[in-house]
Amino acid sequence: MTSTARLLASRQLGERAVRSLPGGVNASARYNRALGHALFVSHGQGAYLWDVDGHRYIDYCMSHGAALLGHGHPAIVQAVQHASEMGILCSCETEHQVALAERLKALFPSMDLVRYTCTGTEDTWHAVRIARAYTGRMGVIKFEGHYHGVNDSVGFSHWPDLDRAGPADQPRPVADSAGIPPHSAELITILPFNDIEALERAIEAQGDELAAVIMEPINYDSGGLVPTNAFLRAVRELTRQRDIVLIFDEILSGFRCGPGSAVAYTGVQPDLLCLGKAVGGGLPLSVLMGRGEIMETCSPMGPALHSGTYNAHPTLILAALAFLDVVTGDGFYAHLDALGERLYAGLREIMARRGIACWVQGVGARFGLLFGLESEPRNYRDVARQNLALADRFHLACLERGVFMAQGSPHHGYSAAHTLDDIDTTLERMDEAAATL
Ligand SMILES: Cc1ncc(COP(=O)(O)O)c(C=O)c1O
Repeated sequence: MTSTARLLASRQLGERAVRSLPGGVNASARYNRALGHALFVSHGQGAYLWDVDGHRYIDYCMSHGAALLGHGHPAIVQAVQHASEMGILCSCETEHQVALAERLKALFPSMDLVRYTCTGTEDTWHAVRIARAYTGRMGVIKFEGHYHGVNDSVGFSHWPDLDRAGPADQPRPVADSAGIPPHSAELITILPFNDIEALERAIEAQGDELAAVIMEPINYDSGGLVPTNAFLRAVRELTRQRDIVLIFDEILSGFRCGPGSAVAYTGVQPDLLCLGKAVGGGLPLSVLMGRGEIMETCSPMGPALHSGTYNAHPTLILAALAFLDVVTGDGFYAHLDALGERLYAGLREIMARRGIACWVQGVGARFGLLFGLESEPRNYRDVARQNLALADRFHLACLERGVFMAQGSPHHGYSAAHTLDDIDTTLERMDEAAATL
């Protein structure tokens, strides 16, 4: 059956939605280009999602990475119930915010102080503002192909058109959205990831004007690109030498490879650390942690205003405490690793057997499927050569076979609720999907 016939209720809801919601969605990433509307879902449980037409999918979007425990994990549901019994308190300090900060500091020992926000977009925006307030400088380096949310400070060059992006070793900032004031671009320097010489040149030339270097230490937003050890060491040494604040944006990489996240995975300590998505167990919590002297720039201790009605909402905080209990439990990461090994090996075998050029970049519990690439990409310019039309066709063929992969997303992932049987079923269905290419 074609997608149009199979997804009749979804299509009808899509037609209704466009009359009230721009594009029929609440986040552009939810629009499915191939379908012409979003996939409308009725509910999720564990590793599965059900659409409004009654089909069950093995989910590889997992709330764009927020649902690392799976949908509706009992510990998270219980935390939400507990919070509602407390009166859905908002704008209050409780013991739980302190307890969570203590637990997080134990996982990231070089971070002294913690603040909470809701979304990743707010988190990186505050991180940059605090770095600027701390250093008294305004410039920021970000890497091409890295994503830090939709705020105007860092909303540049996530996936820029190559005809506007300038030379590979000296990219130009390209705003991710219309409406970003052009002068924001004057404060941003875009560099190629994994290029030590370009970094040295930029820091040599602009070091005295730079407040921060912000980066995804594992660049999932271009498909899971990893930094070389030498590059990451250079980033750390050069920023330290010039008193530039190094911000690790672990909104997506947090808890993907272990409880110590990319900080432990790479062994490099940033000055500020942003966590989001997974840490809230599927609820909108983000965390900003950092070295004491920098975080003390936050109001009321210092001049960088950080406040918000919903900051550290107890519902989110209790969910995060429950999340940490689960991920630090016995065997949690052994299970995630076993799933990844089977899935990534299976996908590589399928693509090779079917003669499809597709680089499978799996790092912990999230992965990129880079159609058209035959070797490991190191930066955005490598990734920009991928065949997105083929990826769209594969995602649609998977959807028709009960495997949900967010169309257009550079990264996919599984949860702790997935089983090895789910992976085997997925691989059978993906093999059929690959055959249609
Ligand atoms: C690395 C990274 N930073 C920041 C964000 C923005 O987070 P949010 O969507 O919660 O605003 C994202 C979202 O995908 C992300 O992947």
